[in-house]
Amino acid sequence: MKVVATEKALRAQVQRWKSNGETVGFVPTMGALHQGHLRLVEEARKRCDRVVVSIYVNPTQFGPEEDYLRYPRPWSKDRVLCQKNQVDLVYRPQNLYLSGASTWVFEEELSKGRCGGGRPTHFRGVATVVTKLLNQVQPDRAFFGWKDAQQVEVIQRVVRDLNIPVQIEPVEIVRDRDGLALSSRNVYLSGQERDRALAIPLLLQVAVGKVNSKAWLIKTLSKIQGIKLDYVEKSQGRLCVAAWVGKTRLLDNRVLPLKRSMSSR
Ligand code: PAF
Repeated sequence: MKVVATEKALRAQVQRWKSNGETVGFVPTMGALHQGHLRLVEEARKRCDRVVVSIYVNPTQFGPEEDYLRYPRPWSKDRVLCQKNQVDLVYRPQNLYLSGASTWVFEEELSKGRCGGGRPTHFRGVATVVTKLLNQVQPDRAFFGWKDAQQVEVIQRVVRDLNIPVQIEPVEIVRDRDGLALSSRNVYLSGQERDRALAIPLLLQVAVGKVNSKAWLIKTLSKIQGIKLDYVEKSQGRLCVAAWVGKTRLLDNRVLPLKRSMSSR
């Protein structure tokens, strides 16, 4: 496995593969890898000849009061995980932004509301860094987890609108044994917070199943002590939730059953 920090070294390697007729799958990450990321790597390995993972904690997608500085950066562990999961190349740039950079990618419709409501500059940062990474790596396919459902929607739109020649491949959420959707931010949760957080996947499952009601989920989650609901919204055939547990913001969603519109009860 190669680890490179510069765009030049990255492009040289990808170019060598492409000139041999090999396809390239790309998994962009901010590191602190977990089984959710490894599922993306596994899918990339299945569908492409070569797999590139980027590890870069992107400052522009964090708001001023957010966790950019304390975001976990366990590089040695991440490196071993990439190696064990047959990643061909890890791209780990120091900084992706030139000083004085003044160009942004701003998706103006799907970025509004939900996560974009409370985090007004978040998707501008995501869309910009993903566009830069796609331009640098030039993969055939890029893999993103459905846990960040709005991110998937925004990236699909950006790629379509800006004619970026890549196939976006969303991959289903991976859950811990207790049901919690895997996230690099789960490490922030204390034992007690984690116990409380389990209400989110549990009630979400009930809401899309037996109860079949968004309003029920809002009412029920709002009553749970230690959980501060941010939103419950339907999008892309999924019921999506964001909620704070202590200082940690968690996301989750589930696919709504086909051909059954959710009641407004
Ligand atoms: O989902 C993430 O980890 C990040 O938003 C991404 C796509 C790597 C961009 O920084």
